[in-house]
Amino acid sequence: MALVTTTEMFKKAYAGGYAIGAFNVNNMEIVQGITEAAGELNSPIILQVSAGARKYAQHEYLVNLVKAALELNDIPIALHLDHGADFDICKSCIDGGFTSVMIDASGKPFEENIAVTKKVVDYAHDKGVVVEAELGTLAGVEDEVKVSAEDSSYTNPDEVEEFVKRTGVDSLAIAIGTSHGAFKFKPGTKPQLRFDILDEVSKRLPEFPIVLHGASSVPQEYVKIINEKGGNLADAIGVPEDQLRQAARSAVCKINIDSDLRLAMTAGIRQVLTDNPAAFDPREYLKVGRANVKAIVAHKITEVLGSNGKA
Ligand code: G3H
Ligand code: 13P
Ligand code: ZN
Repeated sequence: MALVTTTEMFKKAYAGGYAIGAFNVNNMEIVQGITEAAGELNSPIILQVSAGARKYAQHEYLVNLVKAALELNDIPIALHLDHGADFDICKSCIDGGFTSVMIDASGKPFEENIAVTKKVVDYAHDKGVVVEAELGTLAGVEDEVKVSAEDSSYTNPDEVEEFVKRTGVDSLAIAIGTSHGAFKFKPGTKPQLRFDILDEVSKRLPEFPIVLHGASSVPQEYVKIINEKGGNLADAIGVPEDQLRQAARSAVCKINIDSDLRLAMTAGIRQVLTDNPAAFDPREYLKVGRANVKAIVAHKITEVLGSNGKA
């Protein structure tokens, strides 16, 4: 099967009341873990690549790893640029085989966000590529940029119609209380997404796919292993899975997960290396990291997203 765009995926997900998982990929073991899980569960999937991932692994390696996964798994896969900072990186990914890009000008004033998003949409649509944009600002760390909780802002529902109409964008990421990274909420506070904002946005954009970034749940079993095996992740807290399930049943068609995969892989690797101090064959610990990635993705697909059997 060839790479697909997200158009069909989102149409079916919206109608079916489930969401597509968008998982970040940085190396072979992560691509394998995600796609093996999705393949076995017959789930469509989005593999997304950040600027940091391209810097780490190089565009060509990542594209070809994803092509290998396509040959081995008979499921729809979209290859997406995560958090494209400007027109040039979006153009480079569109020209380089991606089927979807995100232009993230959410930190810019409204008119500037519209102008650059429209420029990317015009270029992308001409080449059959779809575009995600963002309104509102998430807290957390993304590509070495840290946004404090005070500087984050919820999406204003009054802006979404005009934004979508003037840009022609295909999906919209909104800020309703999720945030990037493994430290999303202060200890002792009750994490609560703003479903009222999501409802307002979807009323104004009927049948339009909404995207949630920063949607890792930070599984405490992995945090515990990491801490027991020499790590130090104090107060790592994520979005409760029942809230993500609720989001997946609504207009949210794409849910972004990266930190949970990082935790799963790190827990596996730490466990092997700590329990076997003489181990030095990378395959020995990477295969356990990869198995953990596969397990967490299978869990997300079946218990959170509901995309199993939808390929
Ligand atoms: O939203 C950010 C993603 O988790 C990607 O992170 O820029 O460190 O690759 P990264
Ligand atoms: P997490 O840090 O919650 O996994 O979010 C990932 C993300 O939004 C990638 O764009
Ligand atoms: Zn993100």
